[in-house]
Amino acid sequence: MRKRILSRLALVGVLALTAAGCSTGGDDPEAGGDGGNGGGGGGETITVGFAQTGSESGWRSANTESMKEAFSADNGFELIFNAADNDPAAQIAAVRSFINQGVDAIVIAPIVEDGWDDVLQEAQDADIPVILEDRTVTASEDLYATWVGLDFKLEGQKAGEWAAENFTEPTKMVVLEGTTGSAPANDRAEGFDAAIEGTPIEKIDSQTGDFTRDGGKSVMEGFLQKYGADGIDLVYAHNDDMGLGAIEAIEAAGAVPGEDIKIITIDAVRDGMQALVDGKINYIVECNPLLGEKAAELVKAVLAGEEVEKRTIVEDQAFDQAAAEEALPDRKY
Ligand code: AHR
Repeated sequence: MRKRILSRLALVGVLALTAAGCSTGGDDPEAGGDGGNGGGGGGETITVGFAQTGSESGWRSANTESMKEAFSADNGFELIFNAADNDPAAQIAAVRSFINQGVDAIVIAPIVEDGWDDVLQEAQDADIPVILEDRTVTASEDLYATWVGLDFKLEGQKAGEWAAENFTEPTKMVVLEGTTGSAPANDRAEGFDAAIEGTPIEKIDSQTGDFTRDGGKSVMEGFLQKYGADGIDLVYAHNDDMGLGAIEAIEAAGAVPGEDIKIITIDAVRDGMQALVDGKINYIVECNPLLGEKAAELVKAVLAGEEVEKRTIVEDQAFDQAAAEEALPDRKY
C-alpha cells in the first residue's frame, strides 16, 4: 500500500532529491528510482536511499566507492545517493526525501550522533527500515534495524596504547579532532585519553579539523604559531587526512614531521600509509572503509524479514612503519 501511494510521489521525490544534490547509483542522472516498487527480494529491484556524510576524506571516498559497488544494479539494487557535505541538517533532509519517495530501505552514515530521533521515527512510521553504516547515533536502537561499522573507541585505545609505550618522557601533545559531535571524534578521544592516563603525555591543546586535510593543516598552523615547533612533541590526529594536513604545516614551519614532531593517525588509507612508509607519520590504526558488501547483505536480510545482529563490528589492524611497507603494495584504498 505504502509503495503504491508512494510510487505516485516518486517523480516529485526524484526532482526534490536532484535539487538537494542527490543522484542515483550510477553516474547517469536520467536513471531515476523505481518508485519503491522493489519489495526487497524475490528478484525485484530494491530501491535504497543512501545518506552519506560528504566527501571529507580519503576514507570517505573509499567508503562511497565500496557502497556504490555493493548496491549495484547487478546486485539487484537501485541506489539513490546523497552526500550531505558534512551538514547534519542537509543529511536529515535527504533522509526525509528518501521517506517521501518510498524507497525500500534507507542506509545512513550519520554525520553526528545526536538529533536523529524524529526522522528515524518518521522512517519507522512509514515502514521503511533504516540500516546504519560506519557511524552510530544516540537515538534508541528500536528506531533502526541494524548497524555495521567500526569500534572507534578501540581504535583510539590502540593509538593511545602505542603512544603510552613509546613516549615515556614528558611529552607535549596536540590533538586534531574529527567532526564535532561525530561518533568517531567522541570515541577516538575517549579511547585514547583512557589509554594515556597516568603517562607523561600531556594534552596541551585539542581542536577540530573536521576530518579534512585543509582543516588539519590550518589547525596545526595555529598550534605551531601558539606553541612553536619546539613546544610540540606529538600530534594525535583522528584521521589520516588531518595528519597529512599537519605534515604540510610542520614542514612549512621548518620542522621535520615524524622526527621533530611525531604523528599518530587513524584510517590507514593509501596516502597515510605512504607517509608512514616515508617516516612522516609514526603509527596508524586502521579504520576499514569497505563496508558496502556487509551493508548490502544486511539490507537484503532485513527486507526478507530475517533476524539480524543489531551490531556488526568490522575488525581493524594497526601499522608501524615495517607493517606499512609490507601492506602498502596490496592496499585496496
Ligand atoms: O567515520 C569514519 C571517519 O570518517 C574516518 O575515520 C574519517 O576519515 C572519515 O571522514
